[in-house]
Amino acid sequence: MNESIYSIAIDGPSGAGKSTIAKGLAKRLGIVYVDTGAMYRAIGLKVMRMGGSPDDSPFVIGILPSTSVSLGFVDGIQHVFLDGEDVSGLIRTQEVSNAASKVSAVPEVRYKLVELQKKLAEDTSVTMDGRDIGTYVLPGSKYKFFVTASPDARTIRRYRELEGKGRLFGMTFNELLLEMAERDKRDSGRDCMPLKKAPDAILIDTTYLSVEESIDAVMKYIKVGG
Ligand code: DC
Repeated sequence: MNESIYSIAIDGPSGAGKSTIAKGLAKRLGIVYVDTGAMYRAIGLKVMRMGGSPDDSPFVIGILPSTSVSLGFVDGIQHVFLDGEDVSGLIRTQEVSNAASKVSAVPEVRYKLVELQKKLAEDTSVTMDGRDIGTYVLPGSKYKFFVTASPDARTIRRYRELEGKGRLFGMTFNELLLEMAERDKRDSGRDCMPLKKAPDAILIDTTYLSVEESIDAVMKYIKVGG
């Protein structure tokens, strides 16, 4: 085992700033960013495309053997491939968010993706974000963070993100707030590898922090190369 390889695990609910922080850390530290949510989103998208329901576990389990999800890095930016097709641009809708949350509760989906995620961190240093990274995927991570923010702050961020991409489709702030609350409840209430703070994870509340302040708040705990 290479002693210079390390991992940073970042968990938390949606809109808390996990991916912004994880990306910022990867850039500052020159390591690879792995967005595990994108992998669940790809499977959610496949179920939708095949006309199945993400609530229908037997259907979801049935498509797994013929489904491949992989990550590729182009100029340091992660791209997600579903059965060889780059679906990075298609997985950021609210519909796919909800489908991803539903398929992620199916244990067979998790076993498949967690194995891939563990492999990605075997030979290279990574900052990986998700819901179960510090607890199940990389429990031996050198650094673990649980990033959170108030429900209002998280919804505002997500609202602006969807608005900026023209993907609100008439959804109101309150509707989004409810949808996010439902998704968080499902992600933390499922039996298999739920969203949960690892006991040794450092809690970071980004409610009143800017992007740079959030990255700095995490960076001050990271001591590498010294
Ligand atoms: O981080 P995200 O919003 O892109 O994730 C989409 C969904 O995938 C989220 O609602 C829960 C699920 N997910 C998970 O269960 N475990 C992970 N490690 C990452 C995401």
